Formats: sequence, C-alpha cells, structure tokens
Amino acid sequence: MWSVHDDAGERTHPSPEALVLREFGGHRSASLFPTRSKHANYFDPAQGPGMRRAYQDNGEGMNQPRTNPPHEDQRVLMSLIAGLPKVELHMHIEGSLEPELMFTIAARNAVSLKYESVEAVREAYRFGNLQSFLSIYYEACSVLLHEQDFYDLTLAYLQRAHAQHVVHTEIFFDPQCHTQRGVAFATVLSGIRRALVEGERAFGITSRLIMCILRHLSAEAAVDILEQAQLYREHIIAVGLDSYEIGHPPAQFVNVFERARQHGFLTVAHAGEEGPADYIWQALNLLRVSRIDHGVRCMDDEALVGELVKRQVPLTVCPLSNVKLGVFPRLEEHNLREMLHRGLCVTVNSDDPAYFGGYIAENFVAAQQALHLTASEIYHLSMNAIQAAFLPAAEKQALLDQAAAVYHQEIAS
Ligand code: ADE
Ligand code: ZN
Repeated sequence: MWSVHDDAGERTHPSPEALVLREFGGHRSASLFPTRSKHANYFDPAQGPGMRRAYQDNGEGMNQPRTNPPHEDQRVLMSLIAGLPKVELHMHIEGSLEPELMFTIAARNAVSLKYESVEAVREAYRFGNLQSFLSIYYEACSVLLHEQDFYDLTLAYLQRAHAQHVVHTEIFFDPQCHTQRGVAFATVLSGIRRALVEGERAFGITSRLIMCILRHLSAEAAVDILEQAQLYREHIIAVGLDSYEIGHPPAQFVNVFERARQHGFLTVAHAGEEGPADYIWQALNLLRVSRIDHGVRCMDDEALVGELVKRQVPLTVCPLSNVKLGVFPRLEEHNLREMLHRGLCVTVNSDDPAYFGGYIAENFVAAQQALHLTASEIYHLSMNAIQAAFLPAAEKQALLDQAAAVYHQEIAS
C-alpha cells in the first residue's frame, strides 16, 4: 500500500519538489471543479523556475501551508481530484437516497413521510451523533419496497459516481433493514444487482457488494441473514458490520463472522468511528477483517497504530461523515492527514452521501481544503483505495497505471 511519511520519504514517486505546473485543458464533468486558468504556471523564487510546491516541511514530518499562490495551487489540486480514477470502498447504498428520490418513491408506493417537502427533509439532517443520524436513515428506508426502488436508488448513485470519475465501487447494503419490514432479500439484491449490471454496461463502473450485519440486532438475526446471503454467494464478496457502534462490540459477532469466512465471504467491519480503539482490535483479531471501516479512533492507541501500519490494514475513512456525526468538531481537526503521515493505509469515502453533504469528490475537495492536502497526498490516498479494493491484482495494476498517468499529466514535470 502507498502511504506518505514525509516529502523526503516518497522519492520513489514524483516528489513535491519535482512537481511542475503544466498547462492543460480538457473538459471536467463535475461543475464542482473550476476550469484550469491559462495562467496556472507561476514562478516561485523560493523553488526555482516553474517549480511548484504547495506545502513546506516544518521539520517534524508534517507540512504546513505555504502562503504563496494558493489560488493557483487550488486549481491544479481540484483538477487532479476531478481527473483521478476513483475507487470507493465505503458507501451505504441506502445512504445515497436523495430526498427528491425519497419523495418520488414514497409517492408511487403510497408511503407517507413525516416531512412536508424536500427542504424539510434536508432541514432535519442536523445530526449530533451516529444515533441521531441512524434513526432518520432507517426511517427513510421505509419507502423502499419493490425491486424497481432498489434499482432506481442504485442507478442514481452510479450516475453521480460516474460524473465524479468513480471507476470501481464496493457498495454496502443493509438487508435486515428491509427484511424486517417484509421486503424479501431477493427483491433487494435483484434491484441493486440489475443497476450494477447496467452501471457497468453504461458507465464501465465495476463493483462489488458487501452485505452489512446490523450490530444492534442479535447474533441470531445475523446468522439468519447470513444464511440468506449464502444463497447469493457469487454476488456478494464480503460481510460487514454496521449500525450503532457503542455498546455493540465486534466480539458479539465472532461466531457469525467465523461462519461467514467458512462460506467464503471476506469480512470488514465498522470500528473506531465513535467506538473505542479496542473495537478495532476486536475487529482485527476476532472478526479477522480485511479492512476497517472508519477506524479513526485507532490514533488513541499507539500499539494499534503500529499493528495497522505493519499489516497495512486499509482504513476506509469518511471525512464529511465524521464531521456531520460529531466525531470531529471541524474538518480542520480531522486526523486523516496525520494518519496518512503515520504510514496507515487510509482511503477517502463518502459513507452516506445523500445525508452528509457530498459524494466522494466532495469528500476529497473538502479534506484537501481543510487539511491542505498536497497533490502527492491526494494521489497516495487514491492509490491506497485501489490497492485496498477487492479486485484481482491485474485490475488493480491497470487502475494504478491510470492513476499514475493522470497524476503525471496533471502535475508532474
Ligand atoms: N450505517 C450507515 N451509515 C453508517 C455509519 N456511518 N456508521 C454505522 N452504520 C452506518
Ligand atoms: Zn459506514
């Protein structure tokens, strides 16, 4: 996995010292990204002709923002974010239900919502913590009843993902949230799968599905849903663990995850989002997960950081989500950049994009701006996601090559 220690430690890849601005044009699909200025090249006397370095080392391994030409730097960085092929590893499909689609589906299914309008729904999206979010999230799921609903939901996400140059996505779904309401597992899976097939045909986006177990329900209920998932083993790559974290430690699901692995599923788990670092240890050692979802609380435990670095366990971090749910008071205080500099295999993801103010590109943009991420750091985050994907080595290499080509085209001399 790629990780960034400091500028001096990344000489095997284009270093910030070697970054030279280049003129480049080309159409960018998302309006989020400004068009590159014709005047993007500048001369920084401190660096030499044509040399660009957005941040300087403060001698302690962490870089501090520079003061010169930030507006020009921003254009390059935004263009890089737009252009990089993106892999998303942490996105709950139910969390991509935009209020407009929620109303459309509610109307055709004659489900009444407690909100008067799209605006009223958005107004309600002020969450203090995970619990306050999840109660609204589960309530909104009540509009999803038919195969077509799951198809529309998934296709809408894929359209947005495509516009942001997502090339591969590994999608969580929460079947218990639907089977509890009498919607069949097959209905949920069929709608999602039909859209994924269409997404690959229309947009070339490849995908994997991860079935999440709701940790606030019992281990028996988890076994029950796992046995249903087993019938569709070829369509589901992994089993995950989500929902209310505190008070529901991974240890409660050891037997379920053991059984999942016996069935041939890979495993992942939400851990260390709100819950303590110990839950991350449990997910690693008891559930034997391949990736940790969130994991930001690992920084409370030095030994855990050492273990995660040594094993290069990917952490699927979701910056906007963490601020919306009060994990960090402000994005400027997020530990993403510090985690990257510690050598952790961190990735950037959207979690529940319809609720948290942005899809993957908005997460990159917001994190870049709040944490002053450099081009090199953005590139490394993208490469980490490719390496951490549940894809064959040859497909990862093809994506790494694409990312390198974009990075060189946009940034390197
Ligand atoms: N389900 C959907 N989003 C979640 C999150 N951020 N944490 C735990 N469970 C979730
Ligand atoms: Zn999540």
